[in-house]
Amino acid sequence: MSAQKTIKAPRPLIAGNWKMNGTPADLKQIRALIAKLSGKSRYACDTMICPPATLLAPMAELRAKMKASRQLALGGQDCHANASGAHTGDISADMLKQAKASAVILGHSERRSDHGETDKIVKAKVEAALKAGLSAIICVGESLKERKSGDTLKVVGKQLRGSLPDGCTSANTVIAYEPVWAIGSGLTPTTEQVAQVHLALRKALVRRFGDEGSNMRILYGGSVKPSNAQELMAVPHVNGALVGGASLKANDFLGILAAYKQ
Ligand code: PGA
Repeated sequence: MSAQKTIKAPRPLIAGNWKMNGTPADLKQIRALIAKLSGKSRYACDTMICPPATLLAPMAELRAKMKASRQLALGGQDCHANASGAHTGDISADMLKQAKASAVILGHSERRSDHGETDKIVKAKVEAALKAGLSAIICVGESLKERKSGDTLKVVGKQLRGSLPDGCTSANTVIAYEPVWAIGSGLTPTTEQVAQVHLALRKALVRRFGDEGSNMRILYGGSVKPSNAQELMAVPHVNGALVGGASLKANDFLGILAAYKQ
């Protein structure tokens, strides 16, 4: 990256991770969200919901009916590294793509802890996602013990190196920094702590991917809510948020999107 070149900040993304929540009854939240996104308010960010796989097709149908494919993107929460085969209970990247997802969350700390996913496994899944034409939202983040022992930058740096394959570009890859201790706990790091990690991630991305690395979006995730979104989204190199609990209700999610209201 030359010093003279001005690199525009990437367009932010607010992505909602519904985790293992949501049935067809909750489609009314999506209807309310789309109605607002299609209305008069303008938001200077992209918006995505990653529901459980069972809701991808119904959400895509609703979105088509409301003519809102540009307003709301859909994503999966995980995919298998293989394209098909004997993997009971798993889902392939192409299946997500065909259900109208354009992205998939990979390496979420709940996958890393509940399913023993290592950086190597995450990397193979990212490769499968990119091959299927999905973009990957790759999560990294330290535990409380690692934060307390001063290892945060070392831990997230290692996860970043190990989880990203060489084919990552700013168009197909999004990074999400999610401190494990901030997820679902109501706790958030200070803005200084967020700034420190995001700057370190940016530098690592630029070192490895050059200009693509400077344009890759780096989301913050972990207890983002309407009351703290504006402050967190204003931190340098924070290019949006990955939102869990507060993405389940349209009003809460819209309260977070308000950080980018024009
Ligand atoms: P939370 O979850 O917003 O409920 O803390 C974030 C995430 O796990 O992606």
